Amino acid sequence: MKRIGMLTSGGDCQALNATMRGVVKGLYTYTDDVEIYGFIDGYKGLIYSNFRMLTAQDFSGILTRGGTILGSSRQPFKLMRVPDANGLDKVEAMKHTYYKLKLDCLVILGGNGTQKTANLLREEGLNVVGLPKTIDNDIWGTDMTFGFQSAVDIATSAIDCIHTTAASHGRVFIVEVMGHKVGWLTLHAGIAGGADIILLPEIPYDIDKVIEAIDKRNKQGKRFTILAVAEGAISKEDAALSKKEYKKKLEARKYPSISYEIADQIQARSGVEVRITVPGHTQRGGSPCPYDRVLSTRLGAKAAEMIMKEEYGYMVAVKNNRIDKTPLSEVAGKLKMVEPDSGIIQEAKAIGISFGD
Ligand code: F6P
Repeated sequence: MKRIGMLTSGGDCQALNATMRGVVKGLYTYTDDVEIYGFIDGYKGLIYSNFRMLTAQDFSGILTRGGTILGSSRQPFKLMRVPDANGLDKVEAMKHTYYKLKLDCLVILGGNGTQKTANLLREEGLNVVGLPKTIDNDIWGTDMTFGFQSAVDIATSAIDCIHTTAASHGRVFIVEVMGHKVGWLTLHAGIAGGADIILLPEIPYDIDKVIEAIDKRNKQGKRFTILAVAEGAISKEDAALSKKEYKKKLEARKYPSISYEIADQIQARSGVEVRITVPGHTQRGGSPCPYDRVLSTRLGAKAAEMIMKEEYGYMVAVKNNRIDKTPLSEVAGKLKMVEPDSGIIQEAKAIGISFGD
């Protein structure tokens, strides 16, 4: 008998259901003697013992369904050791649920914060298998996360649509892509969508350089310019501030997001008309793309194998195109960021894309 607890935590993405399906289908090929406890809304369900017993049937027909059949919520890692409003010790409560249900292991699907808490539970003695979810592709220890390629498709198609209208009107357009701390999604969608300027959190921009790049295109007779701007894009001046000073500045910012500040600066300095498009949470919505369906299935199959072999304390990972595993202790607390001097940046620059640096 295998008793498996499963949860999806943090911001959702397209292939959560596809991944859970992979795990469950994989498990049932080893044995029929499986009990699955699905915790509702991520760690919240584990803390407050809110779960549903699931069967293989529940995971049938969900390969293409976005969102998560278990629900999700954000439970910040930094608050895990802080008692709840009623004084409940959350970590002890999670352990209590685990032992009460006599679970063999927890299967935890989530991003950076989620994997950090998964590692905390591992340190507390629970058996854990992590699965790398996020549209940001910023989890350390895996080359790829599920959700990323689906989000790239959506952000790219937003840029594609802007291209046709930009060409008609001869304006400057900004497409703001998700990613507060890392720019993988903006970088890939920006290149795939043929953006002229790409601004990432990892490469602080100089607004003069951004305007220069627009002017250069105008002089070349190009009627429009498209900027792919990450939510967390940051100017050189702001990057020089301390964390505290920058936070204060953000709190006082009159713009809804960085794109509006950049648009204002471009308009004021060069007089061109600027329009902003924010695809926002559409980037996390809808069906997983075929790439993600394949990736999720492979990751799920590996998780099932690890559970059967009792290989706990790892996150399933992609390494050099192979499905592998990385110790949660290595994953926790790190971010996989875009390297400013990496090949992909050099190649983008080589075809004339400006990063505003
Ligand atoms: O899950 C990752 C992510 O989509 C980021 O790209 C984005 O910055 C953030 O979550 C948005 O979070 P929320 O859904 O809580 O607004």
